[in-house]
Amino acid sequence: MTAKTMNKQTRQRAPLAPVTADSAGVLGTVPAGHAISRYAEPEPLPVRKLEERRLIHRHDWVRVQADAFRELRTRLVELGGERSFVTLVASVAPGCGGSFVARNLAAAFAFDESKKALLIDCNARHPSQHTALEVEATGGGLMDYLDDPSLDVGDVVYPTGVPRLGLIPGGRVREITGEAFSSFRMRAMTDSLRGLYNDRYVILDGPPVQGSPDARILSELADFVVLVAGYGRVSTAAVEKAMASFPSEKLAGVVLNNSP
Ligand SMILES: Nc1ncnc2c1ncn2[C@@H]1O[C@H](COP(=O)(O)OP(=O)(O)OP(=O)(O)O)[C@@H](O)[C@H]1O
Ligand SMILES: [Mg+2]
Repeated sequence: MTAKTMNKQTRQRAPLAPVTADSAGVLGTVPAGHAISRYAEPEPLPVRKLEERRLIHRHDWVRVQADAFRELRTRLVELGGERSFVTLVASVAPGCGGSFVARNLAAAFAFDESKKALLIDCNARHPSQHTALEVEATGGGLMDYLDDPSLDVGDVVYPTGVPRLGLIPGGRVREITGEAFSSFRMRAMTDSLRGLYNDRYVILDGPPVQGSPDARILSELADFVVLVAGYGRVSTAAVEKAMASFPSEKLAGVVLNNSP
């Protein structure tokens, strides 16, 4: 993995230099592959099940893909310092692998035994993490929480089978998100998750940048934005256009995802 965007000079809370897709924009490259995991919570999942979930494994660091996610995590922690932070992961266009990257980045954060990670599926039209992680969201998800003031955030957090990794699934599918992501309730939720737990990393799995303003709106709630470009799937112009949607000081970089 090359990591040109985040170097030692951009550590801690210093603002990032603007990133361009053709020069310093590449945060890392995730190769195609089926990374696996072996431990699970509450019950250990068999390797086959973790492969189905396309999850990296903490003792699997020799594998190139797991290494790529560890590197990505390390770069973000260098930027964020000791505080906990919220990272938005968004694809440039549908199918680039944003949800795959968000899920495995969250798993990589959770590998640190002193930390917890919370993955929030913010793709209201096409939520996918509950399916990918085989979580049965019987008590609803993010959209239900935002709609129903009687719900507590804890009601919509589910274990995933990866120790210390929780999921807030998308919940009720919505074609039009309206004010949901710019609502007070959404802002209060992300702020409290960031503020109350300094041992917790929050990863927002956003919808693709192309086609909706939601990813940009979600970036207002995040400390960092990781953009995912499907290798060979999107043009440099499309990547640059997507990058321009976000405040440059939040844009941590672009991950080139080489999906199978
Ligand atoms: N590097 C990879 N290695 C293995 N599988 C991958 C990789 N990248 C993506 N996939 C798989 O490809 C499929 C599409 O990826 P994903 O759902 O993450 O894309 P997306 O950009 O989030 O799409 P959407 O626009 O629907 O939100 C998923 O089944 C995912 O597990
Ligand atoms: Mg997705």
